[in-house]
Amino acid sequence: MLVLGIETSCDETAAALVRDGREIVSSIIASQIALHERFGGVVPELASREHLDKIVPVVAEAFTRAAIDMRDIDGLAVTVGPGLVGSLLVGVSYAKAMAFALNKPIVGVNHIEGHIYSVAFENPPVQYPALALVVSGGHTNIFHIPSPGKYKVVARTRDDAAGEAFDKVAKMLGLGYPGGPIIERLAREGNPQAVRFAVPRMRDGLPDFSFSGLKTAVTKHVRETGMRPVQNGEQPSQNIKDLAASFQSVVVRSLVGTLERVAEDYGPRTLIIAGGVACNGALREASRKAAERLGVAVYFPSPHLSTDNAAMIAAAGTVKLQAGERAGLDLNADVTLRLQNLDLEEEALKRAGVRYRL
Ligand code: KG4
Ligand code: ZN
Repeated sequence: MLVLGIETSCDETAAALVRDGREIVSSIIASQIALHERFGGVVPELASREHLDKIVPVVAEAFTRAAIDMRDIDGLAVTVGPGLVGSLLVGVSYAKAMAFALNKPIVGVNHIEGHIYSVAFENPPVQYPALALVVSGGHTNIFHIPSPGKYKVVARTRDDAAGEAFDKVAKMLGLGYPGGPIIERLAREGNPQAVRFAVPRMRDGLPDFSFSGLKTAVTKHVRETGMRPVQNGEQPSQNIKDLAASFQSVVVRSLVGTLERVAEDYGPRTLIIAGGVACNGALREASRKAAERLGVAVYFPSPHLSTDNAAMIAAAGTVKLQAGERAGLDLNADVTLRLQNLDLEEEALKRAGVRYRL
């Protein structure tokens, strides 16, 4: 089955052709990083205009590279949420128009489920039950996946996403955007024990994450030590490298510590680490060690499939198309789309007054 995936939920316009959900025939990603860099984050209005500009050439390039005629695909998969509404609508409208014109089936894909399917390439098939840690600029969740397509959120962030914390700390230190790869590079030359940050724990004992306090702790450290942010083109000081290493280390300890704790409860056969932050070498290393201790397999997407791409959307969509799922032309973007279809503990949490963001 040959599926065209389309992804425009945030700041990458992407299209990919994927065969049988496991083989990438072509994958094109037009990044908008250069456009948003000077604002230190994604500007939604600019993002949707850029998607409008890029969607036609990006999809055309995916077919040209694959030397495949549009009429030869078996179906389409498009990200419908969560994400920025203007950005999502470009992909959804384009994909629906194409499905209608070609008379091919189409399915909507949750972006987070897409990230989970990024390990479908270059790894052996996932063994279930699995636990997936999805860490990106917008999300930090652990999902229990008893069988394909069934999800239960077992840990979530109460405030910032892990990638967002990397981006905000980098901005604070004058390091540029996106912050994750820059902090990782500096951390390699820094001492992770130089600044002692505590792993955030929830007062109610739930295995959730919180990164906003950590951001405040970094701000406080910068102020108290009189550290100067990096000015244009300047070499970062050793203090900044040490701070980067210490910050990265506590984020990794929080993520992997919680994953291990949850794994003891759920007994997974596979751990999946996905999302932009999964590019991080320190996170990979710590997850490998945790998997070894637990005696389970751990899969990562290769770095170019960790950040947003359309191959993962096509892979997730293939499973739905193969199961006979079909969306109508009323398929729409859903900015706050959730990925949870197993027994909802959420209501109970809400009643207990726990506030969180998925
Ligand atoms: O999955 P993604 O491309 O977009 C979202 O869906 O959010 O993730 C982007 C996020 C950014 O916050 C970026 O700083 C972070 O992933 N990131 C990293 C690394 N590479 C990207 N964080 C830590 N270390 C990295 N090497
Ligand atoms: Zn993403």
